Parts: sequence; structure tokens; C-alpha cells
Amino acid sequence: MPAGEIQSAHRPESFRGSPLIELESLVERLNPAKIFERDAPLHVDLGCGDGLFLCALAQRTPEKNFLGVERLLGRVRSAVLKAAKIGNVRVLRMESSYVVRYLLPPRSVETFYLLFPDPWPKRRHWPRRIITPDLLKAISQTLFQNGTILIATDHLNYFEKVKEIARANVDFAISDPTVADLPLTKFERKFRVQGVPIHWLELRKIWPVK
Ligand SMILES: C[S@@+](CC[C@H](N)C(=O)[O-])C[C@H]1O[C@@H](n2cnc3c(N)ncnc32)[C@H](O)[C@@H]1O
Repeated sequence: MPAGEIQSAHRPESFRGSPLIELESLVERLNPAKIFERDAPLHVDLGCGDGLFLCALAQRTPEKNFLGVERLLGRVRSAVLKAAKIGNVRVLRMESSYVVRYLLPPRSVETFYLLFPDPWPKRRHWPRRIITPDLLKAISQTLFQNGTILIATDHLNYFEKVKEIARANVDFAISDPTVADLPLTKFERKFRVQGVPIHWLELRKIWPVK
């Protein structure tokens, strides 16, 4: 089936189970076609929070599958409640970096979203920041050719560091994305109200060229 085309028997509305993924194994890769009960391009929201962005985007993009990854139980519960009536969303309570490194199959993801990752502003806490050269390598391995990762942050220092890490990785082309059509995330709403500038970055997987 060509990417983006849904067989009528596999429309997302037909899903009746819980959107919360309960893993049978922590060492086997996820099977997106089984989890979503259909084959469709996979979008992954790392640190999806309460799922506001994830569910809004999934509702307006029914031809794609959306996986939200979040480690905090309360936020996972909120995301699951929002996702309950949307057929093309699943939520996984897990560390994002573990999911990228060990659970997502190679070349299985069309788009990652990493929107307002915890900035850890104090220098001594920078090692806790999620974006590292290693994580970016793992992200590259899970992306389709031409797949993207969209990153947003309110923190200028983090933004500059992310760009530095991205420039050092030949797999990616860096661009300034157009994001006007995307739904707002909860944190983006908050920052807009406060008048805080938001920095956006898109990395597109361009290497190896096929
Ligand atoms: C600042 S909030 C942004 C939430 C949402 N993306 C938004 O823009 O509204 C960061 C979220 O990422 C989650 N998070 C941080 N580090 C994580 C990790 N390593 N794995 C999974 N979730 C993580 C936090 O629990 C929190 O919900």
C-alpha cells in the first residue's frame, strides 16, 4: 500500500481498544502495524506531555499513525484520555531515548516531534538534556529517508547547542521550518501568552542518499 493511503477496512475510526501501549517485552522492537492495526506513516511525539498537540495533529491527519511518548504518569493519563476517541493515536509511558534507541524499528518513522524538551538551564544539569550526538544518531537510524525531526525550544542556549550537534551529524540537513499550520502545544500556548520567543529547527535526513 502506498504511504499515506488507508485501506477502508483499516481506517483509524475502527479502533476500539485503549490507546495506552502495554509492552510485552522491553527488548523487542515495536511492531507499529500491529499496534495501530494498519500500515501508515509513523509520527512520534517525544515528551508529548498531556497530548494536546499529539491528538490535535492526529485528528487533522487521519492518514498517519501518531505515537506519543511520555514518562510522567499524570501526563500519560491525560494524553490517553484525549486519545481515547481518536483511532490513530497510541501512547507509551517510557523514556524517549530508550524508545528511540531500542524500541523503534530502523527506518520506521516519518517525523519526530521534540517540542519544548526540558531545557535544564543550569550548566551542571546540561548532561540531562535529551538531545545528544548519540541520540541524534539513533534518531537518524529510525527515520525514513527524507524523514524529519521538528524541534522547538524557548531556551536559546539549548537551541544553539542542538544546532551545533546537528551540524556535526552528516545525516541531516538543517532548516528553519514553517510551523504556522501546526496545532499549538500546551507549552507553546504558555510561552506565547508570556511573549517568550520560540526557536524552531527542522532536521531532514538526507544521508545516506539512496
Ligand atoms: C516542557 S514539557 C513539553 C510537553 C509538550 N511537548 C508541550 O510542548 O506541551 C516536556 C515534557 O517532556 C517529558 N519528558 C522529559 N524528558 C523525557 C524523557 N526522557 N522521556 C519521556 N518524556 C520526557 C516531560 O515529562 C514533559 O511532559
